[in-house]
Amino acid sequence: MNLMDGKLVAETIYARLQGEIAALKTKDIHPKLVIILVGDDHASLSYIRSKRKAAEKTGVISELITYKPEEIDTESLINKIHELNADPTVNGILVQVPLPKHVRAPEVMKAIDPKKDVDGFTAYNLGKMFLSAEFEDLVPCTPLGVIRLLEYYKIPILGKEAVMVGASNLVGKPMAVMLLNRKATVTVCNSKTPDLAAQTKKADILVVAVGKAGLITGEMVKKGAVVIDVGINRNADGKLVGDVDFQDVSLKASYITPVPGGCGLMTVACLMENVYNATLIQKSLEPGKK
Ligand code: GUN
Repeated sequence: MNLMDGKLVAETIYARLQGEIAALKTKDIHPKLVIILVGDDHASLSYIRSKRKAAEKTGVISELITYKPEEIDTESLINKIHELNADPTVNGILVQVPLPKHVRAPEVMKAIDPKKDVDGFTAYNLGKMFLSAEFEDLVPCTPLGVIRLLEYYKIPILGKEAVMVGASNLVGKPMAVMLLNRKATVTVCNSKTPDLAAQTKKADILVVAVGKAGLITGEMVKKGAVVIDVGINRNADGKLVGDVDFQDVSLKASYITPVPGGCGLMTVACLMENVYNATLIQKSLEPGKK
Protein backbone atom coordinates (compact mmCIF):
# COMPACT_ATOMS: atom_id res chain seq x y z
CA MET A 1 0.00 0.00 0.00
CA ASN A 2 1.23 3.48 -0.90
CA LEU A 3 0.05 6.56 0.96
CA MET A 4 -1.11 9.48 -1.22
CA ASP A 5 0.36 12.41 0.67
CA GLY A 6 -1.89 15.46 0.34
CA LYS A 7 0.59 17.65 2.18
CA LEU A 8 3.43 16.78 -0.18
CA VAL A 9 1.37 17.23 -3.34
CA ALA A 10 -0.21 20.47 -2.05
CA GLU A 11 3.32 21.79 -1.45
CA THR A 12 4.23 21.13 -5.09
CA ILE A 13 1.18 23.18 -6.14
CA TYR A 14 2.13 25.99 -3.74
CA ALA A 15 5.71 26.03 -5.05
CA ARG A 16 4.47 26.35 -8.64
CA LEU A 17 1.91 29.05 -7.75
CA GLN A 18 4.48 31.05 -5.75
CA GLY A 19 6.59 31.38 -8.90
CA GLU A 20 3.63 32.08 -11.17
CA ILE A 21 2.10 34.68 -8.86
CA ALA A 22 5.47 36.37 -8.30
CA ALA A 23 5.76 36.63 -12.10
CA LEU A 24 2.29 38.25 -12.29
CA LYS A 25 3.34 40.80 -9.67
CA THR A 26 6.19 41.95 -11.88
CA LYS A 27 3.40 42.90 -14.35
CA ASP A 28 1.63 44.76 -11.54
CA ILE A 29 -1.08 42.09 -11.28
CA HIS A 30 -1.89 41.24 -7.65
CA PRO A 31 -4.36 38.32 -7.30
CA LYS A 32 -6.93 38.96 -4.60
CA LEU A 33 -9.48 36.64 -2.99
CA VAL A 34 -12.49 37.90 -1.03
CA ILE A 35 -14.20 35.44 1.32
CA ILE A 36 -17.69 36.14 2.66
CA LEU A 37 -18.76 34.44 5.88
CA VAL A 38 -22.19 34.81 7.43
CA GLY A 39 -22.26 33.76 11.09
CA ASP A 40 -19.53 32.04 13.10
CA ASP A 41 -19.86 28.34 12.26
CA HIS A 42 -16.87 26.63 13.85
CA ALA A 43 -16.00 24.42 10.85
CA SER A 44 -16.34 27.35 8.42
CA LEU A 45 -13.98 29.47 10.54
CA SER A 46 -11.42 26.70 10.56
CA TYR A 47 -11.67 26.21 6.74
CA ILE A 48 -11.33 29.97 6.22
CA ARG A 49 -8.21 30.08 8.39
CA SER A 50 -6.62 27.40 6.18
CA LYS A 51 -7.66 29.21 3.00
CA ARG A 52 -6.21 32.53 4.17
CA LYS A 53 -2.98 30.86 5.28
CA ALA A 54 -2.65 29.31 1.83
CA ALA A 55 -3.30 32.71 0.25
CA GLU A 56 -0.53 34.29 2.31
CA LYS A 57 1.85 31.49 1.40
CA THR A 58 1.27 31.88 -2.34
CA GLY A 59 1.23 35.68 -2.43
CA VAL A 60 -2.53 36.05 -2.90
CA ILE A 61 -4.13 39.00 -1.10
CA SER A 62 -7.05 37.75 0.97
CA GLU A 63 -9.85 39.68 2.60
CA LEU A 64 -12.54 38.30 4.89
CA ILE A 65 -15.93 39.98 5.07
CA THR A 66 -18.08 38.71 7.95
CA TYR A 67 -21.73 39.41 8.67
CA LYS A 68 -23.92 38.55 11.61
CA PRO A 69 -26.86 36.46 10.35
CA GLU A 70 -29.37 39.06 11.62
CA GLU A 71 -27.73 41.92 9.70
CA ILE A 72 -27.85 40.29 6.25
CA ASP A 73 -30.51 38.99 3.85
CA THR A 74 -30.43 37.56 0.33
CA GLU A 75 -30.76 40.96 -1.38
CA SER A 76 -28.03 42.73 0.59
CA LEU A 77 -25.66 39.81 0.09
CA ILE A 78 -26.35 39.87 -3.66
CA ASN A 79 -25.71 43.64 -3.68
CA LYS A 80 -22.35 43.07 -2.00
CA ILE A 81 -21.47 40.42 -4.58
CA HIS A 82 -22.40 42.80 -7.43
CA GLU A 83 -20.06 45.37 -5.87
CA LEU A 84 -17.22 42.80 -5.74
CA ASN A 85 -17.98 41.65 -9.31
CA ALA A 86 -17.47 45.24 -10.47
CA ASP A 87 -14.28 45.79 -8.44
CA PRO A 88 -11.26 45.22 -10.74
CA THR A 89 -8.95 44.64 -7.74
CA VAL A 90 -10.96 41.53 -6.74
CA ASN A 91 -10.17 38.35 -8.68
CA GLY A 92 -11.90 35.65 -6.63
CA ILE A 93 -15.15 35.65 -4.65
CA LEU A 94 -15.91 32.81 -2.25
CA VAL A 95 -19.12 32.69 -0.24
CA GLN A 96 -18.55 30.18 2.52
CA VAL A 97 -21.38 27.65 2.83
CA PRO A 98 -23.54 26.73 4.67
CA LEU A 99 -25.41 30.05 4.71
CA PRO A 100 -28.13 30.68 7.32
CA LYS A 101 -31.58 29.32 6.39
CA HIS A 102 -33.12 32.76 5.77
CA VAL A 103 -30.62 33.43 2.98
CA ARG A 104 -31.51 31.89 -0.40
CA ALA A 105 -28.10 30.35 -1.13
CA PRO A 106 -28.67 29.38 -4.80
CA GLU A 107 -29.54 32.99 -5.68
CA VAL A 108 -26.45 34.25 -3.87
CA MET A 109 -24.17 31.79 -5.64
CA LYS A 110 -25.76 32.67 -8.99
CA ALA A 111 -24.84 36.35 -8.46
CA ILE A 112 -21.09 35.61 -8.53
CA ASP A 113 -19.44 36.56 -11.82
CA PRO A 114 -18.36 33.18 -13.35
CA LYS A 115 -14.92 34.71 -14.03
CA LYS A 116 -14.49 35.28 -10.26
CA ASP A 117 -16.16 32.01 -9.20
CA VAL A 118 -13.12 30.35 -7.60
CA ASP A 119 -15.29 27.64 -6.01
CA GLY A 120 -16.47 26.61 -9.48
CA PHE A 121 -20.05 26.44 -8.20
CA THR A 122 -21.83 28.60 -10.81
CA ALA A 123 -23.96 26.96 -13.50
CA TYR A 124 -21.72 28.51 -16.18
CA ASN A 125 -18.51 26.93 -14.88
CA LEU A 126 -20.20 23.61 -14.07
CA GLY A 127 -21.78 23.61 -17.53
CA LYS A 128 -18.46 24.32 -19.26
CA MET A 129 -16.82 21.30 -17.66
CA PHE A 130 -19.48 19.11 -19.29
CA LEU A 131 -17.96 19.85 -22.70
CA SER A 132 -14.49 18.31 -22.17
CA ALA A 133 -11.34 18.57 -20.02
CA GLU A 134 -10.14 21.47 -22.21
CA PHE A 135 -13.14 23.52 -21.13
CA GLU A 136 -12.50 22.96 -17.42
CA ASP A 137 -11.47 26.47 -16.28
CA LEU A 138 -12.75 27.09 -12.77
CA VAL A 139 -13.90 23.71 -11.42
CA PRO A 140 -14.84 22.76 -7.85
CA CYS A 141 -11.65 22.59 -5.75
CA THR A 142 -12.16 19.20 -4.10
CA PRO A 143 -12.55 17.14 -7.30
CA LEU A 144 -9.71 19.16 -8.85
CA GLY A 145 -7.57 18.17 -5.84
CA VAL A 146 -8.36 14.50 -6.46
CA ILE A 147 -7.31 14.84 -10.12
CA ARG A 148 -4.05 16.53 -9.03
CA LEU A 149 -3.36 13.65 -6.61
CA LEU A 150 -3.95 11.06 -9.35
CA GLU A 151 -1.69 13.03 -11.73
CA TYR A 152 1.11 13.36 -9.16
CA TYR A 153 1.16 9.62 -8.46
CA LYS A 154 0.90 8.89 -12.22
CA ILE A 155 -2.26 6.83 -11.77
CA PRO A 156 -3.87 6.21 -15.15
CA ILE A 157 -7.54 7.18 -15.45
CA LEU A 158 -8.13 6.38 -19.13
CA GLY A 159 -9.95 3.07 -19.55
CA LYS A 160 -10.25 2.48 -15.79
CA GLU A 161 -13.36 1.67 -13.77
CA ALA A 162 -13.98 4.67 -11.51
CA VAL A 163 -16.67 4.50 -8.85
CA MET A 164 -17.85 7.67 -7.13
CA VAL A 165 -19.68 7.17 -3.85
CA GLY A 166 -21.69 10.33 -3.18
CA ALA A 167 -23.44 12.54 -5.72
CA SER A 168 -23.29 16.04 -4.25
CA ASN A 169 -23.05 19.16 -6.39
CA LEU A 170 -19.83 20.10 -4.55
CA VAL A 171 -17.92 16.86 -5.00
CA GLY A 172 -19.61 13.74 -6.40
CA LYS A 173 -21.21 15.10 -9.57
CA PRO A 174 -18.29 17.28 -10.76
CA MET A 175 -15.82 14.52 -9.82
CA ALA A 176 -17.75 12.03 -11.98
CA VAL A 177 -17.68 14.45 -14.93
CA MET A 178 -13.94 15.10 -14.55
CA LEU A 179 -13.21 11.36 -14.47
CA LEU A 180 -15.45 10.85 -17.53
CA ASN A 181 -13.63 13.70 -19.33
CA ARG A 182 -10.43 11.68 -18.78
CA LYS A 183 -12.06 8.56 -20.26
CA ALA A 184 -12.76 6.48 -17.15
CA THR A 185 -15.88 4.31 -17.10
CA VAL A 186 -17.72 6.05 -14.29
CA THR A 187 -20.36 4.77 -11.88
CA VAL A 188 -21.97 7.28 -9.51
CA CYS A 189 -23.57 5.86 -6.34
CA ASN A 190 -26.01 7.76 -4.14
CA SER A 191 -27.81 7.14 -0.86
CA LYS A 192 -30.43 4.97 -2.62
CA THR A 193 -27.96 2.67 -4.39
CA PRO A 194 -29.28 -0.76 -3.33
CA ASP A 195 -26.05 -2.79 -3.13
CA LEU A 196 -23.19 -0.35 -2.60
CA ALA A 197 -20.54 -3.06 -2.17
CA ALA A 198 -21.44 -4.59 -5.57
CA GLN A 199 -20.54 -1.23 -7.13
CA THR A 200 -17.44 -0.36 -5.07
CA LYS A 201 -15.89 -3.79 -5.69
CA LYS A 202 -15.70 -2.98 -9.42
CA ALA A 203 -13.56 0.11 -8.85
CA ASP A 204 -9.98 0.54 -10.02
CA ILE A 205 -10.35 4.08 -8.68
CA LEU A 206 -12.77 4.53 -5.77
CA VAL A 207 -13.62 8.07 -4.62
CA VAL A 208 -15.77 8.43 -1.52
CA ALA A 209 -17.47 11.68 -0.48
CA VAL A 210 -20.44 10.96 1.76
CA GLY A 211 -19.67 12.13 5.31
CA LYS A 212 -20.20 8.80 7.08
CA ALA A 213 -17.30 7.38 9.11
CA GLY A 214 -16.46 3.75 8.37
CA LEU A 215 -18.79 3.52 5.35
CA ILE A 216 -16.23 1.72 3.18
CA THR A 217 -14.70 -1.47 4.62
CA GLY A 218 -11.98 -3.72 3.21
CA GLU A 219 -14.42 -6.27 1.84
CA MET A 220 -16.03 -3.58 -0.35
CA VAL A 221 -12.73 -2.86 -2.15
CA LYS A 222 -11.01 -4.74 -4.96
CA LYS A 223 -7.38 -5.74 -4.33
CA GLY A 224 -5.06 -3.11 -5.80
CA ALA A 225 -7.69 -0.37 -6.03
CA VAL A 226 -6.78 3.31 -5.64
CA VAL A 227 -8.94 4.67 -2.79
CA ILE A 228 -9.52 8.39 -2.34
CA ASP A 229 -11.31 9.43 0.85
CA VAL A 230 -12.90 12.87 0.67
CA GLY A 231 -14.94 12.42 3.88
CA ILE A 232 -14.16 14.46 6.99
CA ASN A 233 -15.93 13.24 10.14
CA ARG A 234 -15.29 13.34 13.86
CA ASN A 235 -15.39 9.97 15.60
CA ALA A 236 -16.51 9.38 19.22
CA ASP A 237 -13.03 10.38 20.53
CA GLY A 238 -13.19 13.69 18.64
CA LYS A 239 -10.57 12.47 16.15
CA LEU A 240 -10.85 13.39 12.45
CA VAL A 241 -11.63 10.37 10.30
CA GLY A 242 -12.75 9.86 6.71
CA ASP A 243 -15.51 7.72 5.18
CA VAL A 244 -13.09 4.84 4.61
CA ASP A 245 -12.01 2.38 7.30
CA PHE A 246 -8.35 3.19 6.76
CA GLN A 247 -6.79 0.22 8.62
CA ASP A 248 -8.98 -2.32 6.90
CA VAL A 249 -8.92 -0.82 3.40
CA SER A 250 -5.17 -0.12 3.39
CA LEU A 251 -4.65 -3.92 3.39
CA LYS A 252 -6.38 -4.06 -0.02
CA ALA A 253 -5.56 -0.73 -1.70
CA SER A 254 -2.54 -0.03 -3.91
CA TYR A 255 -2.85 3.69 -3.05
CA ILE A 256 -4.93 5.36 -0.34
CA THR A 257 -5.37 8.89 1.02
CA PRO A 258 -5.19 9.45 4.78
CA VAL A 259 -7.62 11.67 6.75
CA PRO A 260 -6.36 14.14 7.81
CA GLY A 261 -3.45 14.75 5.42
CA GLY A 262 -5.16 13.83 2.14
CA CYS A 263 -7.91 15.53 0.19
CA GLY A 264 -8.57 18.42 2.61
CA LEU A 265 -5.13 19.94 2.03
CA MET A 266 -5.51 19.46 -1.72
CA THR A 267 -8.84 21.33 -1.76
CA VAL A 268 -7.22 24.41 -0.25
CA ALA A 269 -4.23 24.26 -2.63
CA CYS A 270 -6.59 23.95 -5.61
CA LEU A 271 -8.55 26.98 -4.42
CA MET A 272 -5.33 28.97 -4.82
CA GLU A 273 -4.86 27.42 -8.27
CA ASN A 274 -8.37 28.67 -9.12
CA VAL A 275 -7.60 32.17 -7.80
CA TYR A 276 -4.53 32.27 -10.05
CA ASN A 277 -6.48 30.96 -13.06
CA ALA A 278 -9.37 33.36 -12.40
CA THR A 279 -6.88 36.24 -12.41
CA LEU A 280 -5.49 35.09 -15.77
CA ILE A 281 -8.99 34.72 -17.23
CA GLN A 282 -9.87 38.27 -16.13
CA LYS A 283 -6.68 39.60 -17.68
CA SER A 284 -7.41 37.61 -20.87
CA LEU A 285 -4.29 35.51 -20.33
CA GLU A 286 -4.36 31.76 -20.97
CA PRO A 287 -4.90 29.75 -17.74
CA GLY A 288 -2.25 27.08 -17.20
CA LYS A 289 -3.78 23.65 -16.75
CA LYS A 290 -1.03 22.51 -14.36
N1 GUN B 1 -17.90 24.92 2.92
C1 GUN B 1 -17.28 23.71 2.99
N2 GUN B 1 -16.50 23.53 1.91
C2 GUN B 1 -16.63 24.63 1.15
C3 GUN B 1 -16.06 25.04 -0.10
O1 GUN B 1 -15.29 24.34 -0.75
N3 GUN B 1 -16.43 26.26 -0.54
C4 GUN B 1 -17.32 27.05 0.13
N4 GUN B 1 -17.64 28.23 -0.41
N5 GUN B 1 -17.85 26.72 1.27
C5 GUN B 1 -17.51 25.51 1.78
